Amino acid sequence: METSRGIVVEKQDIAVVAIDGPSGTGKGTIARQMAEYLGWHLLDSGALYRLTVVAAQDSAVALDDESALASLAAGLEVRFASATDGNEQIFLGQTDVTDDVRNEETGKNASKIAAMPAVRTALMELQRSFREVPGLVADGRDMGNVVFPDAPVKIFLTASPEERAQRRHKQLKDKGINVSLPVLSADIAERDRRDTERAVAPLRPASDAEILDTTSLSIDEVVERVKKIVARALSDR
Ligand code: DC
Repeated sequence: METSRGIVVEKQDIAVVAIDGPSGTGKGTIARQMAEYLGWHLLDSGALYRLTVVAAQDSAVALDDESALASLAAGLEVRFASATDGNEQIFLGQTDVTDDVRNEETGKNASKIAAMPAVRTALMELQRSFREVPGLVADGRDMGNVVFPDAPVKIFLTASPEERAQRRHKQLKDKGINVSLPVLSADIAERDRRDTERAVAPLRPASDAEILDTTSLSIDEVVERVKKIVARALSDR
């Protein structure tokens, strides 16, 4: 690929910070803060699985129709933006679908369709297209293992299931959404099981990933640790 200054850069020379882990580990927030700090692009790969669900619902495609879902995934017209208040905005074509993408039901369905090999393959190229100069911070489940196996920095975030449920509960409460903690805990356990037990790209740390347990850490503390890991890894390149 060619930069705006006409310099040719090979995709594999563009650094990627892969941040993987289960939901509720703070991955999304940490990836966004790291992308801002580094001035790099951001890939929220979970949003692409969620968008496939939203696109299917818009076009009345059944959530068990693997080949139709794969076609939708391959043709997703997605745009990530920021509203004037700084909140994220996600567009499918011209439509702002942020609320639909972020709701709990969509997350649950995304985890189901993410187990379909054809859907994962269909989203591969789109995910890799985010690898642009000067670099990419990629957040997901299989960034370090499958999508960017050559990423120079791989971080796998964990936290206890209880802590992850508490964090998600607070996040939803702050948005005015009331879901009971036991229901959320059961949902998280179920989603963990599906994501780790699926046959394709199951959720697990890459063999060369740095594992960071965030259970007793604040977001700022995690960001500071991630900055150190990134600085060390990039200075070794
Ligand atoms: O991170 P998230 O909650 O937005 O992800 C929603 C679902 O998508 C998650 O339960 C599993 C799936 N997913 C995946 O299989 N691979 C990714 N790289 C990202 C998400």
